[in-house]
Amino acid sequence: MNYRLLKNLFSVVPTRFKQLQLSAIVILLAILLSVFTKWISPAQTAKPVVLNLLMTAPDAQPWKEGLVKRFEEKNPGIRINIIEGPNATNLLEDLYTSAFILGDSPYDLVNMDVIWTPKFAAAGWLMDLTDRMTAKELAAFSSWDVEGGRYEGRLYRIPMRSDVGILYYRKDLLEEGGFAPPKTFADLIAISQSLKQQNKVNWGYLWQGRQYEGLVAMFVEVLHGFGGFWIDPKTLEVGLDRPETLEAIAFLKQTMQAGISPPGVTTYQEEETRRIFQSGQAAFLRSWPYVWPLANAPDSPIQGKIAIEPMVSASGENGGACLGGWGLGISKSTRYPQEAWKAIQYFTSEEAQRQFVLKAGFVPSRRSLFTDPQIVAKYPHYPQLLKVLEKAVLRPPIAQYAQASDILQRYLSAALTNRLSGEKAMKQAAQETRRLLGKS
Ligand code: GLC
Repeated sequence: MNYRLLKNLFSVVPTRFKQLQLSAIVILLAILLSVFTKWISPAQTAKPVVLNLLMTAPDAQPWKEGLVKRFEEKNPGIRINIIEGPNATNLLEDLYTSAFILGDSPYDLVNMDVIWTPKFAAAGWLMDLTDRMTAKELAAFSSWDVEGGRYEGRLYRIPMRSDVGILYYRKDLLEEGGFAPPKTFADLIAISQSLKQQNKVNWGYLWQGRQYEGLVAMFVEVLHGFGGFWIDPKTLEVGLDRPETLEAIAFLKQTMQAGISPPGVTTYQEEETRRIFQSGQAAFLRSWPYVWPLANAPDSPIQGKIAIEPMVSASGENGGACLGGWGLGISKSTRYPQEAWKAIQYFTSEEAQRQFVLKAGFVPSRRSLFTDPQIVAKYPHYPQLLKVLEKAVLRPPIAQYAQASDILQRYLSAALTNRLSGEKAMKQAAQETRRLLGKS
């Protein structure tokens, strides 16, 4: 071998070796980086985790303005994407249900009406949250709200806000007319008629009569006020074809026949009734607490003129207040259970609820907030709400709730719009419900 060749070889080898070493290091670094970014929580990478959450449009506004903003400030790695759905809770439920049935739900957090938990849990769509909260932590929430999140002893939903049906009335008009607030169905009709005759209002009483879940929520209150019941959740006994149910239907029909409720009431959801009441055209409204801050807003014609009472009843019976409310669960198919839990912890915290309640007038699910000085200063009726809530009527917490409610909605609507007599409608509704529950 010639000397020059040998020299060249020796000078080349170390350079090649150095190059090889360098590329090995670069490759190793690249591998390490990709492994590292895969393993570390996505919340720590530049791209934030996005949690999708579907809710009704009226709920979305206060969520977006306050809650979400503050949560995102505290958790820069997580974004909450609020998707506005339809106003009716049953339509919202349909959207969640079809997403779950199709497979991987696009929703990470599930904003659930109190009546959905048994169905969603039984279908296996929700993560079990039982071990995430201690008994002590749960005790800070109203017990009926916590129960609304359980199915077969396990917890799937953390209560975010409570809700309860109440009777709003025009304090100014009742005082002027020398009327005490109504206690019975008969009082409600008599006061309405008198105020109408004096041309103080166009309408006496507004309620939700459209064929949707709100109709059922309103109806269980009237039914309870006549001493009746829909479904006993323990025995699955069905009370729809009993005389009390027919009395409840007769009362609602009477409000329309006597011109106390507008003929269009059988097409109204909450918002239609609120708008009429807020414009000053009616004496009474059955609705939820969200109406209060809107009706008392500076631009509202009835600002400062309203008060609330528990829903009336037949004399000798107790008035019913339907328990509503919303809570948060985690979709089983989410890729981000830890982030979703973090969000639930914040949204159900005392701090977040206080801000939310002050903004939107919703009912807290934490007991301490009913007597919170800041809240009571703005909403003096909250301690009274707690009393109404304590006697609330539950819609039956059963896995077949959606179907049972659908049956009642259909037949009740047929009776109220005179497509079927009350008796015929309820006989068929009772039969179908019994068949659904395996009781026929
Ligand atoms: C309110 C209640 C909910 C109920 C719904 C009916 O949103 O919170 O429980 O099902 O009204 O319209």
